[in-house]
Amino acid sequence: MNERQTAEQRIATLREQLREHNYRYYVLDSPLISDAEYDALLRELEELENRYPDLVTPDSPTQRVGAPPREELGTVRHSIPMLSLESIYSEAEYQRFIERMQREVGYVPELIGEPKYDGLAVELVYREGVLVTGSTRGDGYTGEDVTDNLRTIRNLPLRLRHSGEQPLPSLVEVRGEVLLPLRAFRRLNRQREEAGEPIFANPRNAAAGSLRQLDSRITASRPLEVYCYAVGQVEGVEFATEGEVLETLRNWGLRVDKLIRLCPDAQTALEFHRELETQRDDLPYEIDGVVFKTNDRSLQTALGERSRSPRWAVAFKFPARQKTTKLRDIVVSVGRTGVLTPVAILEPVEIGGVKVSRASLHNLEEIERKDIRLGDTLLVERAGDVIPYVVKPLVENRTGQEQRFHMPDHCPVCGSQVLRTEGDPLAHCLNLDCPAQLEGRLQHYAGRGALDIEGLGEKLAHQFVETGLVKHLPDLYALNLERLVSLERMGEKSARNLLDQLERSKRTTLPRFLYALSIPHVGEHVATLLATHFGSLERLRNADEQELLSIPGIGPEIAASVYRFLHERRNLETLERLLEHGVQPQAAESAAPGPLTDKTFVFTGGLQDFTREQAAAAVQARGGHVSGSVSARTSYVVVGEDPGSKRDRALELGIPTLTEGEFKALLEG
Ligand code: IVH
Repeated sequence: MNERQTAEQRIATLREQLREHNYRYYVLDSPLISDAEYDALLRELEELENRYPDLVTPDSPTQRVGAPPREELGTVRHSIPMLSLESIYSEAEYQRFIERMQREVGYVPELIGEPKYDGLAVELVYREGVLVTGSTRGDGYTGEDVTDNLRTIRNLPLRLRHSGEQPLPSLVEVRGEVLLPLRAFRRLNRQREEAGEPIFANPRNAAAGSLRQLDSRITASRPLEVYCYAVGQVEGVEFATEGEVLETLRNWGLRVDKLIRLCPDAQTALEFHRELETQRDDLPYEIDGVVFKTNDRSLQTALGERSRSPRWAVAFKFPARQKTTKLRDIVVSVGRTGVLTPVAILEPVEIGGVKVSRASLHNLEEIERKDIRLGDTLLVERAGDVIPYVVKPLVENRTGQEQRFHMPDHCPVCGSQVLRTEGDPLAHCLNLDCPAQLEGRLQHYAGRGALDIEGLGEKLAHQFVETGLVKHLPDLYALNLERLVSLERMGEKSARNLLDQLERSKRTTLPRFLYALSIPHVGEHVATLLATHFGSLERLRNADEQELLSIPGIGPEIAASVYRFLHERRNLETLERLLEHGVQPQAAESAAPGPLTDKTFVFTGGLQDFTREQAAAAVQARGGHVSGSVSARTSYVVVGEDPGSKRDRALELGIPTLTEGEFKALLEG
């Protein structure tokens, strides 16, 4: 066997193994290997495929990275319409559903009960076991082509698993629901809130927004999951019952929910409904009811369909987690990064077992968009989270007495002037020492990704602020044993440990230090970009907005925020004092001298083998800089496909240009 043949064989084995491990992990929930071992197999496959690119197939487990952005999503016609379900809300309606079927078929049929997922319905077409098309439900007849996006979902097999017992069908249309699990939903919204982006109202919107992206790389970054529950057209396999369908889907490696229950009679089904309702809040994803279908598929044919929904199935919904209540007031709270958040004070109301009396209104834009006025009656939802969400005001209930809300010009806590910039829906209090922010800032400063000061957590931060021991961030470094032990529940040993930790924290890295400062819009990633570009606090402080903007990954909002933060008098004083106390942030390692030190690169046009961020990272890792515009200080302009005016500018100024190949050669030294 020659080298290529050996590789070919190894590739086949690796794919087989990876598929089996996926099946064990996602379907059976019992992995045999660790994540690291899985990654090692995947990497080995990637390396082999890189060496033999012609051996890459679209169903290879490596092909989940996302395709280039599209102009628009295409459409797909469903060969069998994707019907909707009749919704029922009470046990009386449920009894009528049962009786109706009993009348038609002469007995109460066996039912299969499934969670009614609150996500986005999709259809997945597998030909000869390979995923060829994936589409949304759309209007039931035609949906959107989201194949590239669906391919990025980890728990969705790109090729069906062949279990041996049954042949794979030549064609199968699998139907299921795309969901964003609650934890991922909350994390995504936290990130969006921090970045000043609009948050998703509920996990369903987040899943839909993620799946209907034109750029599948964005979809790939959202941990979506698919739960399968039905088939459309099938060729080559027959199913007598829904139970058989689900079991077979599972054997093929598709995820089918373990919660699904076969209910031999109407009473068992009803109990299943009650059981799921009590479990609802503990599930990792949102469900809004139980779907009951007759298990026997020949009965489905006998019972038939109405125009848009089958007579053999029903969605028995749980009570809505939406209520209406009065908006009493809107107060403004100030968070750790100084963001002013308007909060609705509500007439207390119970929603899904939780008493709700406050709801975040996020920002002024949101209030204006929804046209929420003081005194309104609001529709409030508790969806996918314990945190309530204001859906809309009930305009028809207005008396004319309702008042528009105005954001204060001054911070309600410290009185400093509030900053609002165009394009940023958030209002900020920029005073680092604002007491409302100080506690949160102290905690953040001492947090894991920041200066990592062990022992300085929520409680101690609160004590420091409450007792006045710390009035400004740098006061932390003026603490001594005597002052510390004066605090309640602070022993000498803990005090000494804390002092050691504070001392240690002075030798930190620049990215950590920048992150620790709680600059609005500066998370760990942005802090690293800044530190890598500037290399020192001094250089960053002298930068203008233009230079900040030239850093790939830094947009106008971040640039404005950083610039403003570093030009606030009180913030500068704080920085000075921290430095006086001996805090010495060291430049990031990657900014250390390298083969490209002092070289500034500008990119124009599309590169084949790098995204802009990757190219920039490669330059920065070698000590170089990347800028957004060509000037006399530019060392090289890298010219990709369809270059813009930067290429002309380079020629004008006599700056050397590089092709992508030459750029690569330079990187490789
Ligand atoms: S079966 C005719 N099963 O409900 C059968 N649908 O109203 C219809 N849905 O858009 C589909 N969970 O998004 C089925 N376990 C489940 C479901 C389910 C959620 C959604 C689906 C569809 C809607 C139909």
